[in-house]
Amino acid sequence: MSESYIVKPFCSPAQGVAQVPGSKSITNRALILAALADGETLLRGALFSRDTEILITSLRELGFSVEANIVLHTIKVVGLGGKIPAKEAKLHVGNAGTAARFLTAFLTLSEKGKYFLDGDEAMRQRPMAGLINALRSSDNFAHDIHGKETLSFPFTLLTSGYLKNCEVDASASSQLLSALLMILPLSSGAKVLMRGSTVSEPFVQMTEKMCAQFGRPITQVNPGEWRCENPGSFISPGIYDIEPDATAASYFIALPALSGKNSCVRVSGYNPKGLQGDTAFAGVAQACGAILNNEGNALVINHWPEIKGGTFDFNNFSDTFLTLATLATLANQPTTINNIGHTRKQETDRVLAMATELERLGIKTQPTAKELRESDTLASLTIFPDREALKASSAQKPVSIHTYEDHRMAMSFGILGSFDLWGDGRPWIEILDPKCTSKTFPLFFSALESLRTQFVSVAVDGGAACGKSSTSRNLSEKLGFLHIDTGAHYRSLTQVLLQSFVNPEDTQAVNNSLSKIKLSTVISGNSAFLALNDKVLSEAELRSAVVNASVSQFAAIPEVRTFILAYQRNQVLVAQENGFAGLIMEGRDIGSVVLPQATVRIYLEADASARNQRRKDEGIVDSIVQRDKIDSSRTSAPLICAPGAIRIDNTNLSLSEVVEKIEKLILQAGRIS
Ligand code: CDP
Repeated sequence: MSESYIVKPFCSPAQGVAQVPGSKSITNRALILAALADGETLLRGALFSRDTEILITSLRELGFSVEANIVLHTIKVVGLGGKIPAKEAKLHVGNAGTAARFLTAFLTLSEKGKYFLDGDEAMRQRPMAGLINALRSSDNFAHDIHGKETLSFPFTLLTSGYLKNCEVDASASSQLLSALLMILPLSSGAKVLMRGSTVSEPFVQMTEKMCAQFGRPITQVNPGEWRCENPGSFISPGIYDIEPDATAASYFIALPALSGKNSCVRVSGYNPKGLQGDTAFAGVAQACGAILNNEGNALVINHWPEIKGGTFDFNNFSDTFLTLATLATLANQPTTINNIGHTRKQETDRVLAMATELERLGIKTQPTAKELRESDTLASLTIFPDREALKASSAQKPVSIHTYEDHRMAMSFGILGSFDLWGDGRPWIEILDPKCTSKTFPLFFSALESLRTQFVSVAVDGGAACGKSSTSRNLSEKLGFLHIDTGAHYRSLTQVLLQSFVNPEDTQAVNNSLSKIKLSTVISGNSAFLALNDKVLSEAELRSAVVNASVSQFAAIPEVRTFILAYQRNQVLVAQENGFAGLIMEGRDIGSVVLPQATVRIYLEADASARNQRRKDEGIVDSIVQRDKIDSSRTSAPLICAPGAIRIDNTNLSLSEVVEKIEKLILQAGRIS
C-alpha cells in the first residue's frame, strides 16, 4: 500500500462476513496474565498488530517463551508464576499504551531489576504519572537519563519485587489502574486504592473479569478499593479464546449506514455481553437508525434506513466516538458527542484531529478546531451534517485526510469515504498514511474491500456419495458462503410424503399432499435448512434406510421438482439478505436446471467402489448404484454433467485437495479478491 489510499465508494451493497481481528485490549491483558500464570496458555483468536507485537517482543526480551502463529491467530505463552527471568532489559513500547502501562507494573514483580523503557515521541507525552507515583510507595523508581526521578518515558525502572498498598490517580487513563490490578493477586495482602475516578470504567471491569478467568478474582471491597482475597500466581485456563475487537466491529456496524439498500454485514463471534465496553456502540448505532440483530454468535447489520443524529455520552466507550463523528456528517440532524476529554491525550488529540479533518471536508463543528487548539479542557464535539459542503470540498479532487498516526482516524474516514457521495462512484476521500491501521487492524482496508465482493454462486452436482456434501460444507465455511444441500430438500419431502402414505405413482395424491406444505428456511452457522410447516427434520430422519430407498423415486416426479424449484432458486436472495458473500448449492441438477447461470459449476465424480466404501465407512445402508441409475435416467432434470460444468474426479484426491481446487476456480472466475 502506498503513502495514501483513495477510498473507492460502494456503488453496490456491502455484503459478507467482516474479517474483524481479535480485541487488542483482551489480547494484551491475556498476554500479561498468561505470563504471570503457572504453565502454558494457548490464546486463540489473538490479534497480531503493532501493539500486540510490541508486548510479545517485550515478553521475549524478558526471557519468556512466547510462540506466535499469525496464520492460526494463536499465541502460546509459558507462564512462570510471577517470575521474570531477565533482571535487566531494554524495552521499547512504541506508542502502545497498554504495553507501556502493563509492562511498567509487571516489571515491579522482579526483585532488584533494572529496566530501561522508552516509547515513540507520542508515547513520551502520554500519561504515566499516576502509575509511576503509585509504584513509588512500593520502592519502585523511575529515573530519567540524568538519574533524576521522572513521571514519563523514557526512564530506567528500578524495581523492588513487590507491591504494597498503593494509591493511584487514574483520572488520565484507566490503563494506569488496570496495570496495578493485574499484579495485585501476586502481591499478597496488598490493596489498590483509586483516588477520584477513572475514565473508561468498562476497561477496569474487563481487567477484573479477566483476572477471574485466570483464576484470581479481585474484588472492589469498597468503591475504588481493590483486593485479591485469594492471592497467588494466576491459574492458566489452558486455552483462552479472545473475542473479536468490538471497536473494530464499530466500523462494520457503521458501513451499512452508507453502502446502500440490501447491505448486510456479519461480524462472527461478536458477543454483545462479552468483556468489551465498546459493544455499547451498538446501542448508540441503533439509536441513530442501525438495524442490528444477534443471530447465533454473529452480529448481523442491515442497511440503516436513515442516519439520525442525537446527543450521546461516549465516556465509557470513547474509542468508538470517531466512528460516529464521521457518520454524523451524513445524518439528518446535528450530533453531539459528550465526555470525550480524555481522548485528547490518546494516540493524538483525537477531538482536535477529528474537528480539523471534518473542517477540511467543509463540515462545521462546535467547538471549532481553532477553539479546541486554544483550550485543552473542551471535552465534547458537535457535528453539523452538510452533504453539499462535502461535495464542495471534494469537487475538484478527493480530500486528503490527515491521520496523525492514529489508526482510528484512518478507519473512521475510510468508512465515510465508502459512501457514494456523487452517486457515480467517484472517490472523494484520500487517507494519508493508511498503514497506521496496523496498530490494531493491519488488514482493515482489505476487510473493507472484501465486503464489496460481488455475489458468487457455486453449483456442485454429482452422484450419490461422491463427496458433494463434505466438499461444499468445507468450501462454504472457508469462503463465508451459505451452504445449501438440495438432497436434503428431496429427502425432507420424501419423508413427509411417506408419512402420509402417498403412492409416488398417484400424481393427484402427491399434489394434494404438497399443497399442504409450507416451505421456509432456517439458517444455522453457514448452512440453510429447509423447514416444512416450520419443522426442520433431523439428520437421522433424513438419512434413514427407508428414505434412502425411496428418495430417488419421489425426486423423479416432475410435480415434486416443480414444487421445490422456485424455493431453491430463491436461496440466492436468502444468502444475500443474510449477508453471505456467496452460496454453494449441491445436488443433481443445480448446474443444469436450478442455477444454470452460477458463477462456477462443478461436477464431482468418483469410482463406484470408492463411493461404496465411503458409505460403508459412514455405516450407512444405501443403494447408491440404484439411486444413481434412477437419478440419471429420469426425464425430469436428470443427473448430468451440465455443458460447460467442470468435471472433477476425486477418487484419488483428499478432501482438502478437492476444496483447494474448487476454491482456485472460484477465485479465477474473477469475482472475489
Ligand atoms: O448424499 P447423497 O449424495 O447420497 O444424496 P443426496 O444429495 O442427499 O440426495 C438424495 C436424493 O435426492 C438423490 O439420490 C436424488 O434422487 C435426489 N436429488 C435430486 O433429484 N436432485 C437434487 N438436486 C438433489 C437430490
